[in-house]
Formats: sequence, C-alpha cells, structure tokens
Amino acid sequence: MQIIHSANEMQSHAISLRSSGRLIALVPTMGCLHEGHLSLIDIAKEKGDKVIVSIFVNPTQFGPSEDYDKYPRELENDLEKCRERGVDIVFNPTVDEMFPQGYSTYVKEEQLSAGLCGVSRPYHFRGVTTVCLKLFNLTRPDVAVFGRKDAQQCAVVKKMVADLNVPTEIVIGPTLRDADGMATSSRNVYLSDSQRVEAVSISQALKIAKDMVDSGTRSVDRIVAEVTHHLSLHRRIRVIYVSVVDRDSMELARTVEPGRQLLCVAAWADQTRLIDNVEL
Ligand code: PAF
Repeated sequence: MQIIHSANEMQSHAISLRSSGRLIALVPTMGCLHEGHLSLIDIAKEKGDKVIVSIFVNPTQFGPSEDYDKYPRELENDLEKCRERGVDIVFNPTVDEMFPQGYSTYVKEEQLSAGLCGVSRPYHFRGVTTVCLKLFNLTRPDVAVFGRKDAQQCAVVKKMVADLNVPTEIVIGPTLRDADGMATSSRNVYLSDSQRVEAVSISQALKIAKDMVDSGTRSVDRIVAEVTHHLSLHRRIRVIYVSVVDRDSMELARTVEPGRQLLCVAAWADQTRLIDNVEL
C-alpha cells in the first residue's frame, strides 16, 4: 500500500493510473476508520481497479466552536485497517498542503445545503464541497463512495458534481449499525457508556417512524411528533431537528410517499452532535 502526503505527487500518480486505463475509486474520509468506512472500501474495491482512501481532517468544514481540535486522529491504526482491507493508496495530506497560507477559493452549493444541518452549521457544507472537489481534482476518481448516514452530504456532493460537470460517479453505501442500533460514526468515540445508552434512542426513534409508515401513517406531523417525543424522554438528548425530506432535493415533505423520503435527525448527546436517518 502506498502512502502519499503530497498533493502534486497524488495528482500525477492518479493521472498516470488513469492514462494506463485503471478505474479509480475514492473513499474520502477524515480518518478514525470504523466498520462503516471499511464497508465503503469494500464497495470501492468492487467498483474500481485501484482504491484510494483519503484521510484528512478538513478544517474548513468545522465551525469555530466545533470539535476540529479534538476530532479523533488515529493514523497508524487507520493505515493498518486500510492495509488489511486491501486499499492501494492512502492519501494523507497536511492542512498546509490542502489549504496553504492565502488560500481563498471555496465551492458552495446553495440549495440542498441550506436546510437541516446547514441551519446550525452555516459553513459546513461549503467546507465539504470545497475539500471534495479538491480531493476529486487530486485523485481523479471514476467513482467516489460516501456513506448514507450523512444523507445531506451525499445529496449536496451529488448536486455539486452534477452542477460542475465533475466526471465522477457518486456511489452511496448503506449505513452500518452496531448491535445496539447506533449508526457507526467516528464521533461515537466521544460517548461515555451512559451517554451511548441514551444516544441509542436516536436509532430507536427512527425505527418508531419506520414502523408508523409501515403500518399506514402518512402524516409527517404525526411521525415527527412521535420521534420528538421519544427523544425527549432521554435527558441527555437535545433535539436539533427532526425532519422528513425528499432524499434527492432535501426539500421538506408534508406527506410520506414511501421509498422517496428520509426522516433525518440531528441531536446533541450532551456535548456530542449526532446525526442519523432512515428511509421511510
Ligand atoms: O464524511 C466525511 O468524513 C467528510 O465530510 C468528508 C466527505 C471526508 C469531507 O471531509
């Protein structure tokens, strides 16, 4: 497995791989790799001849009072996991390499990124689209694989790729869950045992919503009320939003049309911001 830190080296290597006819599949990550990431790597291996995993904690997608400094960084562990999973290249640039002094260009999707997480994290998606476009320019992927847990990120990146004619197919992998139902996430490492017990209420609430739809409920108001009620029973949990949206446009829905929409939840478990979603 090759480990590349330099942006120029990554780009010239990717260009030469492509000119020799190799299909490149990229899995963009911020490291602290968990089973969810590893399942995205497996998808990338099916889609491409060469799998690149980028590991870069992107400062531009964190707000000033967010967890950039304490975000878990476990490079040696991550490299070992990538090696075991058969990754070909890990691209691990420094912040200076990606955003050198004087950097001043950003890419902003202006519709799908406005609601949900965009309300409380106004610069988050601008940081995500900017770093993703830079990663795409440096690794030249035919395919890039993202996880469904970050549903709004998936929709925003897909829109950016379509709007800017980026020649990369965006593939979405399913959300992986631990035995207790929690969606795998690098931020789960912040949770103490007691916080985790309460945070599981988020995936329980998604199941309540799905069961309601499966038994015929179509009113978004009723579903949102039940989900919010379930979360409110847990004293460490503070709801940021509970919304039903179209899975592609991220527009709010009033009535459930099964198969087209997602129920998305963001909540604080004490100091940890968690998101999750389920297809209705
Ligand atoms: O989902 C993530 O880990 C990040 O938002 C991404 C896509 C790697 C961009 O920094």
